[in-house]
Amino acid sequence: MSTIIEETPFLGLQVQDRLPSDENVFPVAWYAVAWSRELGTTPVKRRLLGEDIVLYRDKGGRVHALTAYCSHRGADLTLGRCTAQGLTCAYHGWTFDGTGECVRIPAHPERAIPEFARMTAYATQERANLIWVYPEAISKNVTPPPLSLFPELEDDRFALSPYEQRWQAHLTRVVESVLDVAHLAFVHKRTIGKRVSEAVTQMAFTVPDRDSIDIENGGGRLLYRFPQQWLLRPSQASSAEFINYVTFTPIDRQETMIYGYAGRTFARRIPGLSQIFSRYSRRILNEDKMIVESQHPRPIPEALRMEAHVPADAPQVRFRQRWFEFLSSPNEPKVMIKDGGSRP
Ligand code: FES
Ligand SMILES: [Fe+2]
Repeated sequence: MSTIIEETPFLGLQVQDRLPSDENVFPVAWYAVAWSRELGTTPVKRRLLGEDIVLYRDKGGRVHALTAYCSHRGADLTLGRCTAQGLTCAYHGWTFDGTGECVRIPAHPERAIPEFARMTAYATQERANLIWVYPEAISKNVTPPPLSLFPELEDDRFALSPYEQRWQAHLTRVVESVLDVAHLAFVHKRTIGKRVSEAVTQMAFTVPDRDSIDIENGGGRLLYRFPQQWLLRPSQASSAEFINYVTFTPIDRQETMIYGYAGRTFARRIPGLSQIFSRYSRRILNEDKMIVESQHPRPIPEALRMEAHVPADAPQVRFRQRWFEFLSSPNEPKVMIKDGGSRP
C-alpha cells in the first residue's frame, strides 16, 4: 500500500473530452436478488435491470429464475406453483422448467409444444445465503464466469448479520459512496465518522488489477471489486475480526438494492447481538441514503471534467475510469435497459 493521494497517478490523467455514457447500460455480472431464506416453496418476484423475474425452487430445492410473465397470456408466474416438472402458471397450467422450456400445455396434451412457448431463463446460484442471478439468457449458451466472493462470507469463523436497503439512486452513485473517505466526518458524524478528522491525510490506495480498488484509511481497508462488491476489513490482523460487506444490485436505472453483512468472529453466540449489528449497519446506510439520492445528474456524469475532483476523490476517479472503460469496451457484456425502464 504505497500510493499516497498526493502522488496518485489518476488525477493527472489525460481524459478524453467526452466519453460514451448511458444511464441505461449496466455490466452483466452476478447480482444478488434475494436472501436464500426468502425463497421457500412459493415463487418470489424481483426486479433486476428493469425486468421482473420470478424465482422458484424446484422439488430438489434448486433455485431457478425466469422472466415473470407467462409466454401464453402474460399472467404473473409468481401466482403459479412449483410442480415436479417446474413452475406451473396459475392461469392455464402451462409449465416451464428451469431452462425456460415449456414442458406442458394441459389444453393440448396430444400436440407438440411450440418453441415460442419458451420463457427466458437466467442462471442462478446460492452463495453466502444469497440468491444470485446472471442476467444473460440461458438460451444464449453463455457460460457465466465464476462468482468470486470475499472469503469472509463463506468462512465459518464469522457470524454474519444481514441487512438491506433500497435506494432511489443509480448504481454508479451508490458505488462511489462506498469509495468516498471525505464524507465520513460529515455524513457519519454521529456514527462511524465520530472520531474521523475532516482532513483526509491518511488515505492511500492501490489498484491491484483492473477490477479492484484497495483503499487504506486509518485502521480500515476498503476493498472494491467491479462492479458490485465491497468489503471493509481491519488493516491489522487480529483475533477478534470485524468486517462489513455490501453488494449492489441495479433494480433499474433509478433504483439500486443493497444487500449487506456485518461479520464478526467474536461474541458469536450472544443473543440479540446480530440484530444490533444489522440495525447499526442499516442506520449507517440510512445516513448515506438521503445524500446519494439527492445527487444530480442521477448517474455519474459522462466525463471526468464534468464534476470537480480533489485528491481525496482519487478512488472515485479510478472507479469512473473503469466505468467509462466498460461503457466504451466492445468486449465487456452489457445489459441495456429500455427507455421506459424495462428491458428490450
Ligand atoms: S397465461 Fe400462463 S398458462 Fe395461460
Ligand atoms: Fe457512507
